[in-house]
Order: sequence, then structure tokens, then C-alpha cells
Amino acid sequence: MTEHKEFRPGDCRVRILLPAEELAARVQQLAAEIDAYYAGCGADEILLVGVLKGASIFHSDLMRALKTPVRIDFMQVSSYIGQQSSGELAIHKDILVDIAGRHVLLVEDIIDTGFTLSMLMPRLQQRQPADLKLCTVLDKREARRYDVQADFVGFVVPDKFLVGYGLDYNEYFRSLPYIGELILPDRAE
Ligand code: IMP
Ligand code: MG
Repeated sequence: MTEHKEFRPGDCRVRILLPAEELAARVQQLAAEIDAYYAGCGADEILLVGVLKGASIFHSDLMRALKTPVRIDFMQVSSYIGQQSSGELAIHKDILVDIAGRHVLLVEDIIDTGFTLSMLMPRLQQRQPADLKLCTVLDKREARRYDVQADFVGFVVPDKFLVGYGLDYNEYFRSLPYIGELILPDRAE
């Protein structure tokens, strides 16, 4: 086992990549795209499902920018490689309502390798929603190893470790109003 040193937040720096104003402007544009999509398919409401904890801030900004009526719910999941080297999905908190026949929009913070969503999306699809779409604020497209594509993407970002606007490092930095690259002390320039 290699030793994994955990750093205190005060020892790290965050290099701003997406300032708060840019995030706010993009959320408005995304909401307009999403409204147009649901108007086009005749949906009169959306079930907006946030994936905890990372998507919590984006989810709350997005719901207030949408004109389409929304009802909200949350899921909390984790993914791991099981004993047969197959992907396993642990659902820590599930949606409380039956999604059959409903227009569901899953709201994520970031798609990295795509591992988690490659297991979560089919599980939700099995519950026979009228429509299941995926919206993510960040897409680390160059890190993708599993076939997952978001329908609505805020920003395509480089393969760096990002924090803020819900994203964490050891549960820290979620409350930053911007998104930035985490610079650990041994990499400080
Ligand atoms: P994936 O299954 O590899 O797509 O990654 C899933 C989860 O890893 C995301 O929903 C995040 O919670 C976390 N994650 C991936 N990249 C980052 C990052 O740059 N900063 C913080 N969390 C990340
Ligand atoms: Mg997440």
C-alpha cells in the first residue's frame, strides 16, 4: 500500500478556472436549453434528480433558473469494482417516488471516467421513465473510459482535480462559489 497523505485545506491552493459569474451565466443558458427540450417533447413537468453530494449546488441553481415546473428528488450512490471485477453500484439514498412514465433529468456535478453513471443510468432506465436525460455542470471528456454522454453539459474541462461549487477534496472546498484546480502543497509553484 502506498502511503496517502491527506492535506489540510489551508495547505492547498485553488487556481480559479470558472469564476462564479461564468457559472451563473452558463446555468441560465443551460436552463433555457433544457426548457426548450422539454417544451419540444410536450412535458409539463420534470423530475429533477440531484446526485448527492456534489451536484447539490448546481441542482439548486438549475431548478431556480428553469421555467418548466419541477419536482425534485435526490440520490446518493457509490460505485466500486466487485469481486468478479465487475462494476457494482451501491445506492445509499434512492429516489422516493415511482419514476415510471415521468420525465426524469439526472443532475450531476462532473462526469470523469463515467464509471458511476454507466451503472446508474441503466438502473434508472429499468424503472421505465417516460424519458431519462443527463445534465452535468462539468464534463472531463478526456478522462472518459465508460460510454456515458450527457445530454446537457455546462463546461468541458481538462483532466485536472477540481473543487468548488459542490465538488470536494476530502469533503472540503464544496462551498467555494467558483470552480478551480486544487494545487496540493508538494506541487506548489
Ligand atoms: P466517475 O465515476 O469516474 O465518472 O466519477 C464519479 C465521481 O467522482 C464524480 O461524481 C465526483 O464525485 C468524483 N470526481 C471526479 N472527478 C472529480 C474532481 O475533479 N473533483 C472532485 N470530484 C471528482
Ligand atoms: Mg458526483
